[in-house]
Amino acid sequence: MNNKTLVVCGIQWGDEGKGKMTDYLAQQADVVVRFQGGNNAGHTITFDGNKYALQSIPSGIFSPHIVNVMANGMVINPKAAIGELEKLEERGIRDYQLFISDRAAVIMPYHIELDGAYESLKGGKQIGTTKKGIGPAYTDKAARIGIRMGDLLDPEYFAERLRDALAQKNMELKMFGKQEMNFDELYKEYLGYGEKLRKHICDTSILLNKLIQEGKKVLFEGAQGVMLCIDNGTYPFVTSSSPTAASVPLGAGIAPRYIDNVLGICKAYTTRVGAGPFPTEIEGDLANYIRERGHEYGTVTGRPRRVGYLDCVALRHACRVSGVTNLSIMLFDVLSGMEKLKICVGYELDGKRIDYVPSCLSALERCKPVYEELPGWTEEITEIRDYDRLPAQAKAYIRRIEELTGVQVAVVSVGPDRTQTINRKEIF
Ligand code: GDP
Ligand code: IMO
Ligand code: MG
Repeated sequence: MNNKTLVVCGIQWGDEGKGKMTDYLAQQADVVVRFQGGNNAGHTITFDGNKYALQSIPSGIFSPHIVNVMANGMVINPKAAIGELEKLEERGIRDYQLFISDRAAVIMPYHIELDGAYESLKGGKQIGTTKKGIGPAYTDKAARIGIRMGDLLDPEYFAERLRDALAQKNMELKMFGKQEMNFDELYKEYLGYGEKLRKHICDTSILLNKLIQEGKKVLFEGAQGVMLCIDNGTYPFVTSSSPTAASVPLGAGIAPRYIDNVLGICKAYTTRVGAGPFPTEIEGDLANYIRERGHEYGTVTGRPRRVGYLDCVALRHACRVSGVTNLSIMLFDVLSGMEKLKICVGYELDGKRIDYVPSCLSALERCKPVYEELPGWTEEITEIRDYDRLPAQAKAYIRRIEELTGVQVAVVSVGPDRTQTINRKEIF
């Protein structure tokens, strides 16, 4: 078993606390890699009284010794990435190592424009995207008209790629009654971003393979969550990449054999931002209680997050498709003060009990959760660092998650700060 690489993988609908866990584990890492998604992510990190929200920059950026990689599977908005680095600099984060793949896709302004335009076509069936141009950028990558980070460093080739892309994209913009985009302006602006980022851009696959072969400890920081996976999630209410561990080798340019361990990051309850099926969703006082205690408002868009009970059917699905080897239960402190806790142990579909997530959206929308009830606890647990000192009911809740998922809970998080973490087992 190779304990030198670990995937930090969200296993719900995103915002599970991947930023916190990546930062926590990064204290022992040499390398932190983002391998999919872009600045649709919002990863919150809290330490020494400071709170940071990262979108496309890897969460290892705070430690000068860590090699941070934005790998080829990402879609990168260079303007936004430069903005993030400038904001970090204002807060004194200047001493870091950052490498950006020359093969990563570039998010262009027309992607952002079209993200909104396609959503507006959907009437009442909007996905509720983050409007960062993620879907349209991945679409262009697959359609082979995308621009890659390395292209920005080659003025002639970039001109050719941009001309070809604009020929199509301006037709689409026109179709939506939107202003066409000007080649000269975009060309100049994006060449400028290339120049600014030139010192970071390289072949990150060569770099990563070398570091892995040297025995360095590498964390792969997933964005979003398995239920938002383009292949395994609640399609079409998903993002346009795969946040599963399976996407690490492809998105980072390394061999699958380098990935053995996957830490599933899981909230002690469920949230979802944006539209789409959510069988265990709750509303009313209890939802508000959880939303306020957990500060459940989107990091990127500020939208209130939808809230619900823990869904172990979805968790089993996510653990299976992403090969989760250990779990980290996050925001566990939020549950203090709830008299009773419910866990979804199965679904009822058209009067029949099922224990899997149906692929078809219309079936999933008809699924009613089957609940099991567990007693809650009243004590605040944010100061506890020793697992055995947790209230008995809290430990019973964790044990039930382990039974229902078949995966051991290695970490329990009891607050947003790096130190508010109970580690039960060495995993990295
Ligand atoms: P990510 O996208 O998976 O990195 O998660 P987000 O940062 O979007 O959302 C998680 C939120 O929960 C952030 O505000 C974190 O600071 C916060 N958080 C993380 N772990 C804990 C925890 O154990 N307890 C509490 N109360 N908050 C936490
Ligand atoms: P982190 O990494 C939560 C959701 C959006 C929308 C759907 C598609 O912070 O967990 P997109 O802009 O990707 O095309 O939107 O996916 N979504 C997220 N929800 N956390 C995220 O990232 C998300 N990234 C995208 O709300 O429903
Ligand atoms: Mg987030």
